Amino acid sequence: MSAATVPALDADLTAGLRRLKLAAMRQLAPELLVTAKTQRWTPEEVLRALVEAEITARDDSNARARLKAATFPVVKTTDEFDLAASSIPAPTWAYLTSLEWIHATENLALIGPAGTGKSHTLIALGHAAVTRGHRVRYLTAAELVETLYRGLADNTVGKVIDTLLRNDLVLIDEIGFAPLDDTGAQLLFRFVAAAYERRSLGVASHHSFEDWGRFLPEHTTAVSMLDRLLHHACRRTTPRVGRGTG
Ligand SMILES: Nc1ncnc2c1ncn2[C@@H]1O[C@H](COP(=O)(O)OP(=O)(O)O)[C@@H](O)[C@H]1O
Ligand SMILES: [Mg+2]
Repeated sequence: MSAATVPALDADLTAGLRRLKLAAMRQLAPELLVTAKTQRWTPEEVLRALVEAEITARDDSNARARLKAATFPVVKTTDEFDLAASSIPAPTWAYLTSLEWIHATENLALIGPAGTGKSHTLIALGHAAVTRGHRVRYLTAAELVETLYRGLADNTVGKVIDTLLRNDLVLIDEIGFAPLDDTGAQLLFRFVAAAYERRSLGVASHHSFEDWGRFLPEHTTAVSMLDRLLHHACRRTTPRVGRGTG
């Protein structure tokens, strides 16, 4: 049936659906009512089709909003990930893509040289989590520390951390890319400590854990941070050649 022959909804119905913000129903209803009449749908079938259309539209719109809020720098998916080219064992990958670790508030720590797929893995898993209804936030360590630093200026660090931890999963990429000063390291530690056993963190660094002391000014900060990060964590080193440990 062409659009021209579909009668518009009565004005009061259109206004009511608009007021109730049932946009998908409002758009679908005219054509659906014609189909329902010609195919003799039951009243329940009509109602169900309208309700399902609205739910689908809302889910899609929420997912788009969550994807935007995640601030991924690029789009990477698990489908595009070549498991054979990475050092992540298949069972580990299956567990990671199941996203059960997010429900269990476990962490993921990826260590490996540049170009080995650390960012891809973080973003792809984050993307999968968004698709399955989770709230996710991606930041580089530099961005995270900068954000916390701004909170320091107006005494809102705690609030900034709480806001970030409203996400189910926070991804911190490029840890150790830029060296941190004492305050930066303390702020990063404060964030990791606040997330401990409360939210999942996914982190990536090209420094081995033994080297974290090099970009974290105080050895004790590095040790305490790793304690909290790795207590409930899936660790992976990601060299292209040879097998990772962890
Ligand atoms: N196992 C893989 N499967 C598919 N693409 C990969 C894989 N590993 C790396 N890449 C791709 O190579 C490029 C560099 O990877 P990236 O994740 O940025 O590395 P890293 O963050 O470890 O430096 C990206 O375009 C990424 O999509
Ligand atoms: Mg990277």
